[in-house]
Amino acid sequence: MNSRGVHIKSFGCQMNKLDTNLVANAFFEAGFEIVDNAACADVVLINTCSVREHAERKVFSLLGHLKRLKQSRPDTVVAVFGCMAQRLKSELSKNEAVNIVCGPSQIPQLVDMVNQALTEKKDCIAVTENIRAKVDDSQSQALDDFESAFDSAQKELPGQAFVRVMRGCNNFCTYCVVPYVRGPEVSRSPAAIIEQVKKLADAGTKQITLLGQTVNSYKYDSYRLSDLLEMSSEIDGIEWIRFITSHPKWFDDTIFRAMADLPKVCKYLHVPAQSGSDRILKAMNRGYTAAEYLELLDKAREIVPDIAIAGDFIVGFDGETEEDFAATVNLVRKAQYKNCFIFKYSPRPGTRAIEKTAEAVSEETKKQRNIELLTVQEKISTEFNRSFLGKTVKVLVEGLSKKSHLNSAENDNNPQLVGRTGTDYIVVFNAPESLAGNFVKIKITNTSALTLFGQLQD
Ligand code: 5AD
Ligand code: SF4
Repeated sequence: MNSRGVHIKSFGCQMNKLDTNLVANAFFEAGFEIVDNAACADVVLINTCSVREHAERKVFSLLGHLKRLKQSRPDTVVAVFGCMAQRLKSELSKNEAVNIVCGPSQIPQLVDMVNQALTEKKDCIAVTENIRAKVDDSQSQALDDFESAFDSAQKELPGQAFVRVMRGCNNFCTYCVVPYVRGPEVSRSPAAIIEQVKKLADAGTKQITLLGQTVNSYKYDSYRLSDLLEMSSEIDGIEWIRFITSHPKWFDDTIFRAMADLPKVCKYLHVPAQSGSDRILKAMNRGYTAAEYLELLDKAREIVPDIAIAGDFIVGFDGETEEDFAATVNLVRKAQYKNCFIFKYSPRPGTRAIEKTAEAVSEETKKQRNIELLTVQEKISTEFNRSFLGKTVKVLVEGLSKKSHLNSAENDNNPQLVGRTGTDYIVVFNAPESLAGNFVKIKITNTSALTLFGQLQD
């Protein structure tokens, strides 16, 4: 039994959060203690993201900090894992602060690699050699076993869990690094997924989120996402089921029908458009036009009347003109999103967009377009949020609110908690912390562009 302290820092998307949870779980099971502070840890693990340059820069700056820390604690083992480890393996392995470089598909080996580094002082790199090669069955099985071991311990939010239904991506959007760091799309077997959901339910999980890079293209024999939604719905104890992220190209009506017919499936859809200009959508290799995208939203709203829809956009893609951007603003107005995630285009080495000759948009223009699009969306979100005033909503409580909100609900002796509705609206209210992981009813008394505020009802 080993009681070494391990500190984990995680960047990036929900996929990464899940990997971080899995890794934390594995280290916990192996007898390590998870500690909050890197300065007193024996092992520092960094789960990295390569989607934008900014995320990679943050990791290099953290490594600079760890290099200084290692001057006083030279035995600290630093492991970099995830997307950046796969993309920048040799550069990272040469970094003075780094002992271990471990790709996303090698995380089941991370505990052994760290143990070796601790005992034998041996540095180690484990990444996939040919990332676009067909994933071999034994590696798939190792990842599946690692995944399935995750049932209760080391969950980030009480009562909730992510369940991966597929790995990788085959879409090759021209701006995106994911296919080059997470490899080809592979769907997990429905049997493994449902067995895991059952275990999570037995351990008290109330909400599961099915995860995939393009979750709606899930395909295993004749099984599709709607079958997973139906099978998960039948599991006692699971009350809410979500799925993220969807690609507009891969929808079929069965998914919308499942959302309409199965009461446990949350009426929330995250479906990135990325741009409202057909010219840019084509350059991005997205496989749809703005009109087709809007038709899809119409269909979703027709079949699932109370659905809430969120989107992603990239502004300042190479060659994006004022006219293209105006088309994006226009689409955002028409789409009526509950909220949107907006990113400034960040060219990624190795992607197809980087080879194109279209002119780059200046950083200043990207910034302006980002602010303008956010402002347009903020007005729409404010209106949606305002429509909740006076209504009572069902909320799954996440825990203490990280930000302190001044215009919160009536103050009392209870702390400020945060939770989400089934349609993913963020709700802040005062209540005992012990309610984390439970469903509560909140009467909405105040709203802002991003948040609903309210009072706990009996
Ligand atoms: N630059 C900026 N944003 C990007 N995204 C993906 N790749 C890039 C990039 N190179 C955004 C997309 C995607 C979200 C996860 O990140 O909007 O939906
Ligand atoms: Fe990247 Fe496109 Fe795959 Fe999403 S669908 S991960 S944006 S390549």
